[in-house]
Amino acid sequence: MGDTNNSGVHNTQFFNSLKSAFESDQLIKLTLSKPLPNIKWKNIFVRPITLKEEKVLSFIYRSQTQDFTKNLTFDEALNEIQNQLGSDFKIGSLFTTDQDLILKFSKKGKTQLQKLSATLKKQEDQETHNRQKTTRVTKHSYLYHLGIVDKNDRVIDKKQSKYKQINRFLEIVEHQLQGLPNQDQIQVVDMGSGKGYLTFALYDYLTNKLNLNAKVTGVDVRKDMVQLCNEIATKVEFDGLNFEEGDIQSFKFEGQIDILIALHACDTATDDALFEAVNSNAHLIICAPCCHKELRKQQSGKGSNNPILKYGIFQERQYEMVTDTFRALTLEKHGYSSNLFEFISNEHTRKNIMLTASKSSKDVNSKLIQEKIDDLKKEFGIDTQHLERRLNQ
Ligand SMILES: C[S@@+](CC[C@H](N)C(=O)[O-])C[C@H]1O[C@@H](n2cnc3c(N)ncnc32)[C@H](O)[C@@H]1O
Repeated sequence: MGDTNNSGVHNTQFFNSLKSAFESDQLIKLTLSKPLPNIKWKNIFVRPITLKEEKVLSFIYRSQTQDFTKNLTFDEALNEIQNQLGSDFKIGSLFTTDQDLILKFSKKGKTQLQKLSATLKKQEDQETHNRQKTTRVTKHSYLYHLGIVDKNDRVIDKKQSKYKQINRFLEIVEHQLQGLPNQDQIQVVDMGSGKGYLTFALYDYLTNKLNLNAKVTGVDVRKDMVQLCNEIATKVEFDGLNFEEGDIQSFKFEGQIDILIALHACDTATDDALFEAVNSNAHLIICAPCCHKELRKQQSGKGSNNPILKYGIFQERQYEMVTDTFRALTLEKHGYSSNLFEFISNEHTRKNIMLTASKSSKDVNSKLIQEKIDDLKKEFGIDTQHLERRLNQ
């Protein structure tokens, strides 16, 4: 816990640590938080970057609605941080490879300095570490708050599968990100975010591992989940992560979605999420469909010469495949290059198929794709499919 020396000593320790971490390449980031109520910015994020072979500090000033970015030399940055911390912002959090230092100012100007063991790793250290251990989940307190790890950072037995799923998900994201154009900010929407395991992990991965300026929004119809996730996001200071209560079917995102994820959103909620992605011209879509009821119901009572459809369990599996093929083809018709593959082995979850799609610059032969869709419809007694219907409305 923090000691209670006078503020001069705390300031000196904090800024000396910042300087030595910057000079020895041990600085990961610095965050200014808890602004006075009249301050425009909610946070200032400071990270070291290299510009034209010079080491500088990149500042992101974040308000509710916008980000403003500027790069400063170390001396300019120090001046700026010293001006802001203690006056406009009441908390400074310094993350280095050695330790975390949290400097807090009370209303009366008293300070408290907390020294904690390092929670973040530098990107290149993490990459080496990842190659060795093939884990992409960073050690971060959100895992504890979500009940994945215990207070000693050990993965709780019952959560081993979830932990593996999160890692595998991040591995897929890492691969997919190669197709994302360079941009100042990445906007991610997670439809049907539930308890937020993957939403938190993705935010942590994009911001703390890849050092990207990411804003991530989780959407779920369950108020209790949304509330819980927002509380945890505040607790762990994930300032660009927030959760909103809403139904995927009617949810309208203000602004451009770059990456849309929808993992295990029930039945046609997956189609509603895909519709929103196509509508928003999202660059990347990562989705793990769940309970495919719609098309199977349409076939019911029509009879079929296909012997596979005679057996309930095969019928179920067949319609899962047909539904996801339908979705993949529909996305291709709308200019995406899509893929379907096994997300994680059956031992972890039955819902293990992943559909990914990225915006493609290739010409689309819509007529040919429509013919394939029509053939599927004919063979499996389908009149229409939810995603197709929504896109045709
Ligand atoms: C099986 S959980 C998956 C949670 C999370 N995506 C994951 O994979 O860990 C499905 C979540 O989707 C939400 N959901 C289902 N249909 C929805 C809809 N139409 N609108 C918003 N949320 C929905 C549920 O409340 C639930 O939290």
